[in-house]
Amino acid sequence: MRMHLALVLGLVSLVLDGVCASDWNILHHKGDGKGLKISLKNYCESWRVNVEVHNLRDFEVVPHECVEYIGKYMTSTQYKVDSERALEQCTLYLSQEFGLTGDGKDAWIFDVDDTLLSNIPYYKKHQYGGEKLNLTSLEGWMRGRKAPALASSLSLYNEIKGKGIKIFLISNRGEHLRDATVDNLFEVGYTGWTGLILRGDEDCGKSAQKYKAEKRQKLVEEGYRIWGIVGDQWSSLLGHPHATRTFKLPNSMYYA
Ligand SMILES: *[C@@H]1O[C@H](CO)[C@@H](O)[C@H](O)[C@H]1NC(C)=O
Repeated sequence: MRMHLALVLGLVSLVLDGVCASDWNILHHKGDGKGLKISLKNYCESWRVNVEVHNLRDFEVVPHECVEYIGKYMTSTQYKVDSERALEQCTLYLSQEFGLTGDGKDAWIFDVDDTLLSNIPYYKKHQYGGEKLNLTSLEGWMRGRKAPALASSLSLYNEIKGKGIKIFLISNRGEHLRDATVDNLFEVGYTGWTGLILRGDEDCGKSAQKYKAEKRQKLVEEGYRIWGIVGDQWSSLLGHPHATRTFKLPNSMYYA
């Protein structure tokens, strides 16, 4: 993986340095035959898309050459439109395929960070993921209770609540951040959830995916039907038991 990335980066810099197309062809994979010239923007957009579709995993930092590009995307209208489009699909799903029973066991799960609350103001000061994660500093930001709501998430949240579906928030944040998290969520308009599930001592060292799947398992054992999950990380959406549908919000600043 690392070698492959290095090779691609090498190719990008060759093209950017203006090396002629025939040299590029020698290195380029077979089947294209057109001497495809790629720009840094092409390279970074393809990096971003491959993060979103979960081909590119476990990255520690956004590649140095894409920091500016990812920063632009995460603060763009496009990012908002992409998020809105994803959540529009939730609304569609809720309107078409739902046979709610009214027995109080219909449930929906939201992730918190960069799903309900936006940490973009924090990452703006940390190269949009181009800097290695400093948990102390990130938790300092979380304690500050200053994260804004993602507007389209707030409206979906209220729509789901209005249908009488029980909302559970399953977050990678630790229990020590409970007060700060509740305050921040309330402050920007999220109220009326049934459960806010945070990492306790017993969850220490578990991967995000395993931890979240275990919490869903508990809900299923309590008789809940999980109709949907909204999250910005694949670790919120994958694993057993799964929801009837999952919805992925864009986020290429980090992998958790
Ligand atoms: C991480 O952040 C804390 C708090 O801002 C800071 O004191 C510390 O030096 C940082 N650590 C690293 C390795 O940068």
